[in-house]
Amino acid sequence: MKRFLMVALLMAYTAVACAQSDVHPQHTQPQNQQESVQIAVSVELPKPEMSGLTVEQAIMQRRSVRTYLPNPLTLAHLSQLLFAAQGITHTENGSALRSAPSAGALYPLEIYLVADRITGLEKGIYKYIPQSHSVELISRGEHLEELSVICYNQMFIANGSCAIVMTAIPSRTTRVYNERGLRYIYMEAGHVSENIYLQSASLQLATVAVGAFRDQQLKKMLLIDESEETPVYLNIIGVPAQ
Ligand SMILES: Cc1cc2nc3c(=O)[nH]c(=O)nc-3n(C[C@H](O)[C@H](O)[C@H](O)COP(=O)(O)O)c2cc1C
Repeated sequence: MKRFLMVALLMAYTAVACAQSDVHPQHTQPQNQQESVQIAVSVELPKPEMSGLTVEQAIMQRRSVRTYLPNPLTLAHLSQLLFAAQGITHTENGSALRSAPSAGALYPLEIYLVADRITGLEKGIYKYIPQSHSVELISRGEHLEELSVICYNQMFIANGSCAIVMTAIPSRTTRVYNERGLRYIYMEAGHVSENIYLQSASLQLATVAVGAFRDQQLKKMLLIDESEETPVYLNIIGVPAQ
């Protein structure tokens, strides 16, 4: 009877959490992350399309663009961009390989999304989960203006629709490659950023890579555990103004 009651309570709790949103309850954040939401939610992205510009056309059209219209991106745009960044493209001998190369296929990079203007997605900071091609909510609210200040007052960032922020968990790579693994992380971030540039060109979106930011403040904004994870590089994405 006691067991039945516990199961019923758990089911009722899950039903309430689901009713608050059309997204699925995922996990509870650690208690020391006070700004984080109580129940993280997960949003499945549409399947990415395998069409668009040729790679040659995308290379020709790629440019760093810093002026954006205040228009939102769609979930379809987001799906393409995150797939280009770290989507799973192949599974080989049980291990999943991604869109960008990674030394030893160790994948030290994590992808965060700062979503201020995306139709169908609540404003907030999300983490990309390649395995399910979904994003998980980390914290709610608009953050691009705060990000502009963190990036040494590059205020054009506030006008973007979203930012894709790469962080690294260096131990994933250094446990195999020692100190040399630290270099690999920055090389890998370059691969990911170029994929985002080319995908943006193909979608006729505007992007720019940003390497100038205050580490401590960005760690705080992303609510990451700074003992193991560090921000590396980011891309701002928007609808081009011209
Ligand atoms: C490692 C790196 C860091 C960069 N950081 C910034 C930045 O903080 N802010 C910015 O507006 N552009 C930044 N850029 C973009 C460059 O300014 C841009 O690539 C350069 O002006 C060449 O223009 P193109 O990308 O259109 O060819 C960065 C580019 C790289 C590769």
